Amino acid sequence: MNPKHFPSPEKYMPERFLDKSEAAKYVFMPFGTGPRTCPGGRFAMMQLKVGITQLIRNFEVTLNEKTRQPIKYDPFHFLLYPKGGVWINCKKIDL
Ligand code: HEM
Repeated sequence: MNPKHFPSPEKYMPERFLDKSEAAKYVFMPFGTGPRTCPGGRFAMMQLKVGITQLIRNFEVTLNEKTRQPIKYDPFHFLLYPKGGVWINCKKIDL
C-alpha cells in the first residue's frame, strides 16, 4: 500500500504487477522471500487461478449491495481484509 512503490495504491491497476525487475521482487512479497520463502506459493497461485477460472466460466459475477463501499480495511483482521467482507452475486451461466 506504499504509494512510493505502488502509485494510487487503492486503485485497481493489475498492470502494476507486470514489472518483473529485480527490484520489484523485493517490494511485493506475498509469499515472503529468501531461504524461508513459502513452499506452497506456486501451488496456491495455481489453485487460485483454477478457482477463479471456474467461477467466471460458469457464473456471471456482480457485486452484492451488502459490500460496503468505499472499502475500508478491517484493523482487527489478521490479513488485509475489507470491513464487512466482499459479497458477490453468482448467476449460473447456461453453457
Ligand atoms: C495464498 C496462499 C498463501 C500465502 C499468501 C502464503 C504466504 C506465506 C508466507 C508469507 C510465508 C512466510 C515466508 C517467509 O518467512 O519469508 C509462508 C510460509 C510457509 N508456507 Fe505459505 N502461503 C500460502 C499458501 C501455502 C500453501 C498452499 C502451503 C502448503 C501447501 C504453504 C506452506 C507454507 C510453509 C510450510 C511455510 C513455512 C516455510 C518455512 O518457514 O521454511 N503455504 N507462506
